[in-house]
Amino acid sequence: MSTPKPPSRLAYLTIVLLLSLSFSISVAASEDSDDIDELIALDEAEEGGGSGTHNPKPSSEAEVLTKAQRIVLELNNDNTQRAIDGNEYVLVLGYAPWCVRSAELMPRFAEAASSLNELKSPLLMAKIDAERYPKVASNLAIKGYPTLLLFVNGTSQPYTGGFSTEEIVIWARKKTGTPIIRINSFDEANNFLKKHSMFTIGVFDKFEGPDYDEFVKAATTDNDIQFVETNSPQIANLLYPDVKSDNLFLGIVKSEPERYTSYEGDFKKDKILQFLNDNKFPLVTFLSELNSVKVYSSDKLQVYVFAEADEFKKLLEPFQDAAKKFRSKIMFVFVDIKDENLAKPFLTLFGLEDSEDTLITAFDYKTGAKYLLESDPTPARIEEFCSGLFKGILPPFYKSQSIPDNKDADILTVVGKTFDDLVLSNSKNIILEIHTPWCLNCETTSKQVEKLAKHFKGLENLVFAKIDVSVNEHPNLQVDDYPTLLFYPGANKSKPIKLSTKSSSKELAMLINKYLKEEARDDVVKDEL
Ligand SMILES: *[C@@H]1O[C@H](CO)[C@@H](O)[C@H](O)[C@H]1NC(C)=O
Ligand SMILES: *[C@@H]1O[C@H](CO)[C@@H](O)[C@H](O)[C@H]1NC(C)=O
Repeated sequence: MSTPKPPSRLAYLTIVLLLSLSFSISVAASEDSDDIDELIALDEAEEGGGSGTHNPKPSSEAEVLTKAQRIVLELNNDNTQRAIDGNEYVLVLGYAPWCVRSAELMPRFAEAASSLNELKSPLLMAKIDAERYPKVASNLAIKGYPTLLLFVNGTSQPYTGGFSTEEIVIWARKKTGTPIIRINSFDEANNFLKKHSMFTIGVFDKFEGPDYDEFVKAATTDNDIQFVETNSPQIANLLYPDVKSDNLFLGIVKSEPERYTSYEGDFKKDKILQFLNDNKFPLVTFLSELNSVKVYSSDKLQVYVFAEADEFKKLLEPFQDAAKKFRSKIMFVFVDIKDENLAKPFLTLFGLEDSEDTLITAFDYKTGAKYLLESDPTPARIEEFCSGLFKGILPPFYKSQSIPDNKDADILTVVGKTFDDLVLSNSKNIILEIHTPWCLNCETTSKQVEKLAKHFKGLENLVFAKIDVSVNEHPNLQVDDYPTLLFYPGANKSKPIKLSTKSSSKELAMLINKYLKEEARDDVVKDEL
């Protein structure tokens, strides 16, 4: 029997696709939103002449942004090559004026540019309207919107950081020679704490030697956590109370109940990164548009809670408790069920898109399995669910419609729950039509199957059946093409034969006859044995 192919990658892609679709639709509906007006205004301000004579104090957020926006160099046909060649570090944002995600990112990009400018970063921040300058954009290898690329001495690398202003700043500094902030005084420490609620701290007596080198490598390789270092035990204790060693210590600090976690392993880059990876997410991550990519790309087991924000407050403590137990193995994510863009794609995977109840689900992206806690989420059940997930003993969830009435039907309607009974344990030969509501050629094939069912009507050992796999799943039914026609020989259901949906009805009928004869012969042989 072929091993079921994990539906998860597909599911994941579906989520991403649905997210971006629903996302663009939701904003397209409010096309004249402030964001876009603001962007157009900003662009005009830039083009119209940055050298305006009046110079008002920034009094509104928009004006602050306008100022920040000017720090971003606008690339065009003339200046791009010079900008890329003439600077050691250039971070380029490729955008399109109509692209909503670009519009969202642009103010953050501009704010980051402003912060980096204050921090005396050597990085040049630039943007290119890829629709207006398609040739330049294509030379830079900008393919979608928004695209962020870092050019180091003219060679580009993809952007791998987060998309908040702070995350852009942290990433940019990591990749441009300042991966670590050194803290030399209590003032600096206090200022740092005002700005950062999450960071990695390293305490060294000297900023040199093999341990320190590995720390720097980890800081540079990591994509999203701010690193700080100090050689003062007193300053270290302000940033991280109970530092365990004055001359060699590493810990991570977060803004939540499990605020401090210290590193116990060797100072080796990969081990430090693994530690950060296991510990960088909060006990429970609140999913948002901003962190969704990061959350989806985590390779841990994941438990998702879908609930209204108020409902979730009651569940937060049991979840934090479970998260403390399984922290390095399972990631815990809360999704506001009212946030349709985020919640719906997931709920669709369970056929529960209309649900308003609190739901607890889990995913194992390695095997592609998904799970559903199908009883009231008491703390004990939550813990049991997580423990089962961790041990790999939870029964996976498969979508199914409710069982239909097939009385007098020429073609049986099979659902997830009846696939075993009607197809796999049925000793008759089965022709199964696998379809979805959206597939282009499904209707043609459906008509053919109806014709064939009429043609073969009355034949005792042949059953025609169909299943809508957009709402029904079974581990033994892994099909990527729709429509698909399968012939399940009565004697052996483990190896269905694929029938070409491009054949004519007549060809199909002949083929089915041939298979039926072969089956009958096999039966005779078996009887004789
Ligand atoms: C970029 O090129 C300059 C001049 O050749 C060199 O000094 C510098 O180290 C290079 N930067 C990086 C990050 O490789
Ligand atoms: C069914 O087919 C599979 C794959 O060809 C084979 O391994 C298995 O032995 C067959 N079972 C029977 C009952 O014929």
